[in-house]
Amino acid sequence: MVPIDPRPNAGAVPRGEPVSWHDPHIVEFDLRPLSLGDRSLESVLRARRSSRILSEAPIEDVAFAIRETLRAHFVGVAAKHGRKLKAVVSSGALHPVMGVLLGRDVRPIVYDDISDRFLSVGARDPQQLNAFLKNCRKVLPEANGHWIALVADIRDLSRLYSDHQSLLWRDAGAVIQAMAMVAEARDLAFCPLGILGQQVVDALLPSASGLVAVGVVAIGRRGIHQNAS
Ligand SMILES: Cc1cc2nc3c(=O)[nH]c(=O)nc-3n(C[C@H](O)[C@H](O)[C@H](O)COP(=O)(O)O)c2cc1C
Repeated sequence: MVPIDPRPNAGAVPRGEPVSWHDPHIVEFDLRPLSLGDRSLESVLRARRSSRILSEAPIEDVAFAIRETLRAHFVGVAAKHGRKLKAVVSSGALHPVMGVLLGRDVRPIVYDDISDRFLSVGARDPQQLNAFLKNCRKVLPEANGHWIALVADIRDLSRLYSDHQSLLWRDAGAVIQAMAMVAEARDLAFCPLGILGQQVVDALLPSASGLVAVGVVAIGRRGIHQNAS
């Protein structure tokens, strides 16, 4: 493999274009009772491990882990339009990676970091969604919690940088690590999957959407082995 450094494209600015979700509805989760707890960073760093056997956690816990990882503390306006500041690092402060929560009996739920809201969205192609869920279960057959598909909007990233691909993968890795730490702080089981999850993009978005799949993780309660009913 020949490593290629990305290079900024002179004069290019982010547009921060909206994503064409299908039939979006706001989902209200009451996350106020939840917190990151009072464990020290040292305890979280020492204890974090991937757990492959997990049962379903309350959906609020999973939504909390997504929001704590991906929420924007500052959203840029005017000259900073399209840039955000978060707990996670990101090249150019573009934060292209978003999370889609998937599980049994729920419509896919996207976390929108600009409005700090969750949106339940419709599947344009339900067969692709079923194929995705089947694929996840094949990788982690004893994970019976929720799946989080990580999907990246590469429109601004590819506009701002030539050879942007490595920036994308490094951003995705940063999100996976940050979410693993948040999950550990909440005592939740967490495991990344090697698959990328492109079927989620194919299921939810029109073709040529500018969104690509960059990973999948499982989140749930640890330890208790339950078969899917
Ligand atoms: C990008 C990525 C993909 C991974 N894919 C899988 C996978 O498909 N199945 C699995 O059991 N673990 C997977 N893992 C978890 C690793 O196997 C795990 O992080 C590694 O064994 C170290 O263990 P630890 O996370 O408990 O420290 C993945 C981890 C990463 C970062």
